[in-house]
Amino acid sequence: MPECHSTNSLASELATKNILSEGTVIITSNQTAGRGQRGNTWETAAGMNLTFSILIKPTFLSVKSQFYLTIITSLAVADLLKEQSVTEVKIKWPNDILAGKKKICGILIENTVQQETIQQSIVGIGLNINQNNFSSPLATSMAIAANKAFDLNEALNSLLEKFEKRYLQLRSGKQADLKSEYLENLFGFDETQTFISNGKEFLGTIEGIDENGELKVSDNETTSSFKLKEIALKY
Ligand code: BTN
Repeated sequence: MPECHSTNSLASELATKNILSEGTVIITSNQTAGRGQRGNTWETAAGMNLTFSILIKPTFLSVKSQFYLTIITSLAVADLLKEQSVTEVKIKWPNDILAGKKKICGILIENTVQQETIQQSIVGIGLNINQNNFSSPLATSMAIAANKAFDLNEALNSLLEKFEKRYLQLRSGKQADLKSEYLENLFGFDETQTFISNGKEFLGTIEGIDENGELKVSDNETTSSFKLKEIALKY
């Protein structure tokens, strides 16, 4: 689409009409009302970056394993960035992709669930590619990180290939491998850092993720699991 409010919203609208097959990609070069996690907006300069959504139908996946969709998407983006010589690539739980501690990619996955299985998933990816100026000092792009411009179509094709590879890995039952690769790439894994939960700061260590994808953090005495809105990393 030359212009679109939100590729996730459009994919979801079209999917309800049952006209999209698995693997359909909705992409726009000018997303005017991009949606982010926690109800945030996703702002991006027109024509500079990738904003797209992939429709998949992972009916083999139970609802309790839905976090694996976050894992494969994050790993696919990390695979692309590493291949393109972007350094210090990390996944900030659950699925912000960082390059040198700055956010380079945001992911919004929206699932439709029926009888304990996932019927449909819309995997929305906003990857900063050629934008050189951001209003936030905490944002970056591939061009800034690698000091060169990229061809958007090539980056898209390569990312879709990587996503498909990771998706097939999940479909063939390689959950354990995927989870350990995710943890290897997780920002702050096994390091002591300052977290904020319930308005209070505390020192904690990320010990991993539980079977629901919740973050397991220990504060030296106890290990607790946190959902997305319950914890933030102060960094
Ligand atoms: C976040 O970090 O908060 C997630 C941002 C996700 C942005 C992408 S851009 C393509 C797709 N369409 C949307 O409206 N959002 C996602």
